[in-house]
Amino acid sequence: MQVTTGKFEATGDIMIVPVFAGVEKAPNNTTVGLSRGASIAVKAAASGDALTGKPGNMLEVWTKGCTVFFVGVGDKETLTHKGARDAGAKCLAKLSKDLGTNIVIRFTSGWNSSNMAAFAEGMILRDYAFDKYQQKDDDNANKGEWSLECQAHERHLEGLAAAVQKSASIATGVHLARDLANEPANRLYPEEFGRRALEWAEGKSNVEVEVWDYERLHKENMQGVIAVGKGSIRKPCMVFFRLNPDAQTGERVPCIVGKGITFDTGGISIKPSAGMWDMKYDMHGSATVFGLFQALWATGYSGRVNGITCMAENMPSAEAYRPGDVIDTYSGKTIEIFSTDAEGRNVLSDGLWKSAELNPSYIVDLATLTGACVVALGHEASGLWSNDKSLSDKIHEAGNAEDEIAWPMPLMPAFEKEMTSSKFADVRNGGKGRWGGACTAAAFLKQFVQDREDENGEKSQIPWAHLDIAGTAWGADTNACVAHGGTGVHVRTLHRLITSQ
Ligand code: BES
Ligand code: MN
Ligand code: ZN
Repeated sequence: MQVTTGKFEATGDIMIVPVFAGVEKAPNNTTVGLSRGASIAVKAAASGDALTGKPGNMLEVWTKGCTVFFVGVGDKETLTHKGARDAGAKCLAKLSKDLGTNIVIRFTSGWNSSNMAAFAEGMILRDYAFDKYQQKDDDNANKGEWSLECQAHERHLEGLAAAVQKSASIATGVHLARDLANEPANRLYPEEFGRRALEWAEGKSNVEVEVWDYERLHKENMQGVIAVGKGSIRKPCMVFFRLNPDAQTGERVPCIVGKGITFDTGGISIKPSAGMWDMKYDMHGSATVFGLFQALWATGYSGRVNGITCMAENMPSAEAYRPGDVIDTYSGKTIEIFSTDAEGRNVLSDGLWKSAELNPSYIVDLATLTGACVVALGHEASGLWSNDKSLSDKIHEAGNAEDEIAWPMPLMPAFEKEMTSSKFADVRNGGKGRWGGACTAAAFLKQFVQDREDENGEKSQIPWAHLDIAGTAWGADTNACVAHGGTGVHVRTLHRLITSQ
C-alpha cells in the first residue's frame, strides 16, 4: 500500500470520512473537490438518520467517480488509539477494489494527530493477504495495490506524514512475519528460513545474517537444537541477525531470540491429528524476530541489535530423539526428555545460552511454547515472564501502546525447583504434572539465562523476558488488524521497546 498525505483536494476513487458519534451533518471539508451535484447528494445523505457516528456505523454514498464512506468511530472524547486503529482496519476490510484502488481519508474537525495516525495504521496493517498459492481469477487480488492519501488540516500534515510513513515501514516487518508464519511447512523448513534471511540481507549495507548449518551446530555442540531437528530430513539450523553491527561497539545492546519449529508433530510423543495443521505456525517466534529486523531496518534505526532464531522441524522417525533421552546442550547442562513435544524449550536452551555471549543489555525470547498459555490467556494476550521488573514493565507498556497485550505471569522458585528435579539430568523438559504448564516452561528457560558480574564482582542473571505467543501468533478472531492466519505479533511491541530507549 502506497501511503501519502495531502490537503483536502483530491477525492480518490473511494473517500473515507471518519466521523464521531452525534454527527449531524457532513463535517467541513468533506465535499471539497466533488462536483456540485455530488456535494449535494453527500451532504443530504449525511444529515439523514442513517449516519450516527457510532462504532461500526457506515454510510455509503455513490457519486460519479467517487464513492464516499462515512465511518463511525464513536465518542470523540473517549476514542483511544486502539479504537481508531481497529476502526481503520475494519473499514479497510469492507472496501472492494471494484470501486477503484485510490483511497482518500479525510480527517475533518475533531481529529488529533495520534488518532489520525492510528486509524491509518489500522488500514495499513489490515491490508494483507497470503494468496500466493491460489489462482487469482477473482475478487480483489488482481486489481492492483491500494493507495492511501491521508488528508488533514495543514497544521497536522507534517506530523501525520511522519507518523504514517513510520507505520507503513513497521508494517513491512509485520507483514513479512505473517508471510513467514503462513508459509506451509513443506515450503518453509529450517534451511529455507535461513536462505530467505540471507536473501533479505543482500544489498543491505547495515545488516548481517549468518546461518549455522547442521555441521556447524555439531561443531558448536548445539545439541538442544540438534536433538529436536535430527528426526527430520530437513535439518535444523541457527540464524543470526545483526543490525548495524559496527554501531555502539563495546556497548550492550538487545538480543531477541525466537523459537522456530517449522512444523511440530510432537515427534515420538506425537500430537493428535486434529488441528495439527496449525503447527506450521510453530516458528512464529522466529518469524517475529525476522520481521522485527525488517521493521527496524525499514525505519532506519541506527542502533545495534542482535537476533537469534533456533530453527528445527520436530518429526518422529527412526532418527528422532525419544522420551527418556538425556541430551547435552550448548550450555553444558543436560536435559532429561519427558516429552519430545516439549521441543521449543530444548531449541531455546541453546539460543538463550548463546545470546548471553553477545553481551546483551537484555534478552527477549518469543515462542509459541505451550498450549497451557492459551488455556490461561486465550487469544487476547501473550504471557510475559521476566527476571527483571523494569524490563517486564517496559515490554508490558510497549505492548499496551501497540495493542499487543503482554500479560505479566509469575516466575516462582517452586517451578524452577520442579524443573531441576530430574533424577538423571540437570534439567527436565516437562513438569511433574500438567498444572502451571506455561510457568514451568518459563522456569525451564530461565535455567539457560547466564549470569554476569557487575562492577562490584556481584553475579546476577542478565535481564531476560520470555513471551509465550502460543495464543496470539494466530487464531485471534477478535484482532481487527488481521483477517486470518499469522498475526505478526510483537513486531510492533519490540520495535517500540528497542527504539524508545
Ligand atoms: N508448539 C506447542 C505449543 C502449542 C500448542 C502452541 C498449541 C500453540 C497451540 C509446544 O511445542 C508443545 O507441544 N507444548 C506442549 C508442552 C508439554 C508437552 C509439556 C504442550 O503445550 O502441550
Ligand atoms: Mn511441541
Ligand atoms: Zn512446539
